Amino acid sequence: MNENFQFLQAFLKNPLKVGAIAPSSPELAAKMIDGIEPDEDNVVLELGVGTGAITKFLQSRVRNKNSYLGIELDKNLVKTLNHNFEDLKIVAGNACDAYSIHKKSGLGKVGYIICCLPFVSLPNEVGERILSQVDKFMQKGCMFRTFQYAHGYYMPSAIKLREFMRNHYGKSRRSKLIVKNVPPAYTLTWKTN
Ligand SMILES: C[S@@+](CC[C@H](N)C(=O)[O-])C[C@H]1O[C@@H](n2cnc3c(N)ncnc32)[C@H](O)[C@@H]1O
Repeated sequence: MNENFQFLQAFLKNPLKVGAIAPSSPELAAKMIDGIEPDEDNVVLELGVGTGAITKFLQSRVRNKNSYLGIELDKNLVKTLNHNFEDLKIVAGNACDAYSIHKKSGLGKVGYIICCLPFVSLPNEVGERILSQVDKFMQKGCMFRTFQYAHGYYMPSAIKLREFMRNHYGKSRRSKLIVKNVPPAYTLTWKTN
């Protein structure tokens, strides 16, 4: 099935959880994977894999299967993802359980989190639970990167995420506005040592 069509289907089924009408563009994907060099002891964890718009670029950086873990809530999307990305471990699950999902996977330390979750449209308490999971990985030394759409940048939940991250891990590195994405977006990166 065509990627855009499957994404739109998922959006129509659950607009708040998907949070976008189209998959990320190649330009946004390139920014999201910039500088990421995963290995078995610096696994890349992708939250909210969707139809794999970022994963297909990330794939070229993943040298072996034990360097990547993807978590996606929508079981139908996961079926297609497992077919399209046979070499990558992508599981159906909730990012609220990311820490235990990673533990169960038996993979090494998470060195990078690529977060594609639509914080702006998720209920507050879900956002908070996900951030507490992120914090567990960050305590062990990790890079966290997400994107925020320009039109939602000053929405309370977008600000809340940035405040949480700034208070815990300092100032972010923000990209220029990526206009070749629908809608235009910034990437934001935090890193702990
Ligand atoms: C904005 S889409 C991004 C998809 C893809 N990574 C991209 O950039 O095109 C967000 C994705 O997060 C998933 N999602 C939403 N809440 C989630 C949760 N709590 N745990 C895991 N995935 C979730 C949705 O099903 C959707 O596929």
